[in-house]
Amino acid sequence: MAEQDPPGMMRVDSTAHEASPASAPLTGAQRVLFVDQSGQLGGAELCLLDIARHRRHDSEVLLFDDGPFRERLAAQGVRVSVEASAAVRGLRQRGLGTGALRGLLALPSLVCRVARRAARADVVYANTQKAMAVCVLGKWLHRRPVVWHLHDIVDASFFGRSQRLAIRWLSRGLTRVVANSHASADAFRALAGSAVPVDVEHNGIEPGPFDAALQRDRLALRVANGLPADGLVVGLFGRLTPWKGQRVLMDAIARMPGATLVLVGAPLFGEHAYEAALRTRAAQPDLAGRVHFLGFRADVAELMHCMDVVVHASVCAEPFGRVVVEGMLAARPVVATAAGGVKEIVDHGETGLLVPPDDAGALAAALASLSDAGVRDAMGARARAAAMTRFSPQAMLAGVDRIVTDVARVDRGK
Ligand code: UDP
Ligand code: GLC
Repeated sequence: MAEQDPPGMMRVDSTAHEASPASAPLTGAQRVLFVDQSGQLGGAELCLLDIARHRRHDSEVLLFDDGPFRERLAAQGVRVSVEASAAVRGLRQRGLGTGALRGLLALPSLVCRVARRAARADVVYANTQKAMAVCVLGKWLHRRPVVWHLHDIVDASFFGRSQRLAIRWLSRGLTRVVANSHASADAFRALAGSAVPVDVEHNGIEPGPFDAALQRDRLALRVANGLPADGLVVGLFGRLTPWKGQRVLMDAIARMPGATLVLVGAPLFGEHAYEAALRTRAAQPDLAGRVHFLGFRADVAELMHCMDVVVHASVCAEPFGRVVVEGMLAARPVVATAAGGVKEIVDHGETGLLVPPDDAGALAAALASLSDAGVRDAMGARARAAAMTRFSPQAMLAGVDRIVTDVARVDRGK
């Protein structure tokens, strides 16, 4: 969204050890404190980036880790600060990890510090699980309603037993859940019951960068990125982590002589051994010279426009799948795995192709069915039209505004 910085907006680029300008009072109808555990640019953070920018006049963002996410928020005029804590580093999503004891000891201090910030807002909006946990644990201090924007499928494929029990227990302190898909909403209800109201708000994706990319010359972009002009060029956009299925797509491409695979993304959360394994696989004779690793890129729209086909290959149920919508906005046919939120995005055969997860043969067959450029362009055009109407950022932002207003109003009426 090409919004301008608000006049006189104080930009905050602080960390907890500096005097925090984020302590300036928030003003506005509903002052929102957004809380996120990560400083990296994952899909949940990119979603929050749009929401926080839209609400930057009356809200601020608190992160538990520094990184490019803080820089992007600050660059877009959002008040942002960092409360780094061993509590967050020590408590992992699955299992207790080595830093767990230190993490537990550091937790009360973090809860109190966040609660002090939360008390100055009308609504606390947690964007990740650890943020949710810290905000709910501090509720007896800040006494503000807590909304959880749920970007995950809270089942056994992603979360350990103790984490699921903790989420179930903590969910009693939530006022509302905003789920990124019906799949995420269903998993939450299966775990926590129906006491907490759940709204589904699919991510909206700003089409502007994709509109601009469509004006660019595809071949020139390929050359500029060191990609071949001929043969089927297939792109997978996503962080390098086993469940995103890069490895399965490599096995599919190995069966397709002449095809090129482009992997866009980096190991955001320390999955360096997985990247090394992918590079080893890429060097084998059936793939040698046909796999390009581009790393994390900010020009996703242009790169998607370069591709013949965009593939989403997650082997677990994807909670939503921003990259699927983005591939559609780039007017590309998307081949995606049929699980989780993706089934709410792609209309099989019309706006993309769905294949079973973890099935290299099915991926290769779907890609082979898209060998004709006319077929690809026609499906890409239908996909773009569907994505423009069904996943607009305005619809998502209006939904979040409505929920925040509603939650604040009910809380005031207590
Ligand atoms: N992305 C990016 N640069 C990259 C790879 C991915 O900006 O090199 C973005 C991508 O455009 C998408 C997000 O990261 O908006 C990934 O979101 P998604 O919901 O697909 O998956 P997640 O990583 O959140 O599970
Ligand atoms: C999470 C999910 C992804 C989703 C994104 C935005 O990172 O893994 O599927 O698209 O959040 O909601």
